[in-house]
Amino acid sequence: MKRYFVTGGAGFIGSAFIESLLSHEPNCSITNFDALTYAGNLENVARFDKSRHSFVHGNIIDKEAVLAHLPQECDAIINFAAESHVDRSIRSAHEFLVTNVIGTQVLLDVARARNVRRVVHISTDEVMGSLPETESSFFTEESELSPNSPYAASKAAAEHLARAAHHTFGLDVVITRCGNNYGPRQFPEKFLPLAITNAIHNESIPVYGDGLNVRDWIYVEDHCRAILAVLENGRSGAVYNIGARNTRRNIEVVESVLNQLQRPKSLIKYVSDRPGHDRRYAIDPSMVENELGWRPLESWESGLTKTINWYKDNPQWVEQVRSGAYRDYYKQQYGTGVEAL
Ligand SMILES: NC(=O)c1ccc[n+]([C@@H]2O[C@H](COP(=O)([O-])OP(=O)(O)OC[C@H]3O[C@@H](n4cnc5c(N)ncnc54)[C@H](O)[C@@H]3O)[C@@H](O)[C@H]2O)c1
Repeated sequence: MKRYFVTGGAGFIGSAFIESLLSHEPNCSITNFDALTYAGNLENVARFDKSRHSFVHGNIIDKEAVLAHLPQECDAIINFAAESHVDRSIRSAHEFLVTNVIGTQVLLDVARARNVRRVVHISTDEVMGSLPETESSFFTEESELSPNSPYAASKAAAEHLARAAHHTFGLDVVITRCGNNYGPRQFPEKFLPLAITNAIHNESIPVYGDGLNVRDWIYVEDHCRAILAVLENGRSGAVYNIGARNTRRNIEVVESVLNQLQRPKSLIKYVSDRPGHDRRYAIDPSMVENELGWRPLESWESGLTKTINWYKDNPQWVEQVRSGAYRDYYKQQYGTGVEAL
């Protein structure tokens, strides 16, 4: 039986990955180690089979706790745990450095000390900075790291540490970088679930700047299948860029949501741009496609329909996260309440 240690598995992508792993490998056990920050949600893991999934409330910067809960003969650590929201990192970078940088080093040290067979470190396309607006340039695995936000800088630092652990100690580490994920259970401060939940409630949708920033969108289950492929067959020490060849301008994303929900464009409200806002991300996924045979299964339209339907069908989940801490954050970020924007 394979034994996995997944960090950040109560968040958006980590919980989707656990679901994929449980169905892909019926004979495995997963320890899900998560600090339950504002972004972690136990409701995201309630559906998992308790005989194969166990949740541990713990912080990856706490080495003793990680050592105490890491399974014996662990096959892999898959590290999703992170402070993940750029806007929050612009307000304060401290937690980003603590979790994303020091936390990653703790996991690498533990993996080495306990002979964990493989570490898969989940990174982001944002470490590669911003591309020019022309349609012809893409991020490849060879692109230089040039992070522009404190979040991206902390993720780039984590990548350097993961790479160094492979180079210096021969630790089996593989890094994945993907673009904007979308799908069920994403915390609604992020751009797409914010647009969906506000549109469902007939509330204004804030769009930064001129709305022409380009992002590369991937349905979360497609991303998780790519991580599974990397976990099983990725080359030790390699980086894999993961993308679905689906770039969209932000304003086009909002328009797709409004169209599917049959809401008027008058809900769009342009707000002051994010400081240092990267203009364009676009991923060339040829390497993961050619080496590992991975392809996305969802189109933008089919993935968006699934995502919107999930938010429509789960109003309690949305209400729970839109109350409390989220309301305070929203007010700070946009200067107004969720309802009044
Ligand atoms: N969401 C995206 O579009 C996207 C794109 C590219 C890369 N990524 C990366 O994927 C990973 C997961 O992203 P997400 O969108 O699911 O994030 P998320 O914010 O939804 O979830 C992060 C999870 O990590 C947990 N966590 C935070 N700090 C922790 C700590 N110190 N110890 C243990 N657990 C901690 C949180 O409680 C939460 O459950 C992150 O590493 C992120 O950088 C995300």
